[in-house]
Amino acid sequence: MKILGIETSCDETAAAVVEDGSKILSNVVVSQIDIFAEYGGVIPEVAARSHLEVMMPVINKALKDASCNWDDIDAIAVTHAPGLLGSLLIGTLTARTLAVLHDKPLYAVHHLKSHVYANWINTSSNGKEITACPSDTLRAALANSSCSAGHIAISFPLLALVVSGGHTQILYMREHDSFEIIGTTHDDAVGECFDKVAKILGLPYPGGPSIAKEAEKGDENKYKLPHPKLEGLDFSFSGLKTAVLRAVQKELGLPISHPSHDLKNHLTGEMRADFAASFQKTAIDILNEKLEMATRLHPDVKSIVFAGGVSANKKLREKAASKFSRDYPVFFPEPKLSGDNGAMVGAAAFYEIQAGVKPTDPYSLNIYPRVSIEV
Ligand code: KG4
Ligand code: ZN
Repeated sequence: MKILGIETSCDETAAAVVEDGSKILSNVVVSQIDIFAEYGGVIPEVAARSHLEVMMPVINKALKDASCNWDDIDAIAVTHAPGLLGSLLIGTLTARTLAVLHDKPLYAVHHLKSHVYANWINTSSNGKEITACPSDTLRAALANSSCSAGHIAISFPLLALVVSGGHTQILYMREHDSFEIIGTTHDDAVGECFDKVAKILGLPYPGGPSIAKEAEKGDENKYKLPHPKLEGLDFSFSGLKTAVLRAVQKELGLPISHPSHDLKNHLTGEMRADFAASFQKTAIDILNEKLEMATRLHPDVKSIVFAGGVSANKKLREKAASKFSRDYPVFFPEPKLSGDNGAMVGAAAFYEIQAGVKPTDPYSLNIYPRVSIEV
C-alpha cells in the first residue's frame, strides 16, 4: 500500500511516499529554518505563506522521486493536529483538494502519532535494526520477534518518549494505534527549552542542534542546574530555562534585572560552551530519570522508543542507550526522521488503517491546533 504523507504542522513543508508503513520511496522536506534564523523563532503567518508557496512543488517532487503517478497512490495522509493553525490549514486544504481531485481515501493523522511511527520506518522491510544492543539474555528472549537478518521488531506494550518543540510526553502503547499519556509537561516542552536557552546563550535558531554542537566543546559538570521537584511522571522545563538565565547573570556578576537578550554579548566562548553542555546534560538527565520511573511503574513494558525533534540529540541517544538497553530494546528514529517529515505521516496512517480506522471526509476535515493524542 503506497501512501502519500503530507506534513505542514510547523515550519517544515514535507511530503513523502511510503510503502506498507515502513519503506520510504521518497521523502522531501523543505525547511523554513533559513527564514526564521533571522528572527530567532517561527512567525506563524510567515510559516503559512511559505507552506503555500512550496506545498505543490514538494508534493510533485515526492511523487517524482518515488517514480509514482497518481494511479500508484492508494491513499493520502495529512497532519491535521496539533500545530500552528495557518500551517495546518495549508497542508489539510491541499490534501483535501487532492483527495477529491484524484478520488483517493484521505486519512487525518495526529502529529505525535506520526513522530512515534517514525520508529517503524526502515530501509530494511523486515523490522528495525536495533539501535542499542540489549543483553544476550534479552536478545534470546526476543528471538521470536526477530527476522532472519537479526533485526528486532518493536514489541508491545511499549513506552514512547516524545520530545519535540511543542511536546514532552511519555506515552504507554498497549498495541498499534493505542496511546495513553502517562506523563506530560506542565509548561514548556523540552525542545522549546533548548530553543530559549540557545537564545540566552546567543546560539542560532533552532536551539537544539546549535546547543548540541556547542556542548561538544564544553564541560557538562561546570554549572549545577536544578531538577524540577515534580512528583510522578510529569515534566516542567520553564524553571530550567530560568535557572540557566540566573546562572548566566550570576557568572557574569550582573543583576537579575539585566536584560536576557544582552547577556550573550558578555559571555566568553568557554562560558557559552560550558553552559550549553551543563544545560544539555540536565535536560537529558531529567528526561531519562522520568522514563526510568515510568519503566518501574509499568513492568509489563517490552520496548522503549524515542520520538520527536529532540530525539535526534546524540547525547540523549548515548545516555538513554547506556541506561536502558541492558533491560529493553531501545529504538530511535533514523536521525533525519526525528524532525518533521511526511514519511512518518504515511507510516502512522498505514498502522491506523491496519487498526481499522476509516478514511475521513475530504469535504469536512477540520484542523485542531491543540488536541491531545488520546482523543
Ligand atoms: O519534532 P520537531 O521537528 O517539531 C515539533 O513537532 O515541534 O521538533 C523541533 C524541536 C526544536 O525545539 C529543536 O530545537 C529540537 O527539536 N531539536 C533538537 C535537536 N534537533 C532538533 N534538540 C536537541 N538536540 C538536537 N540535536
Ligand atoms: Zn514535530
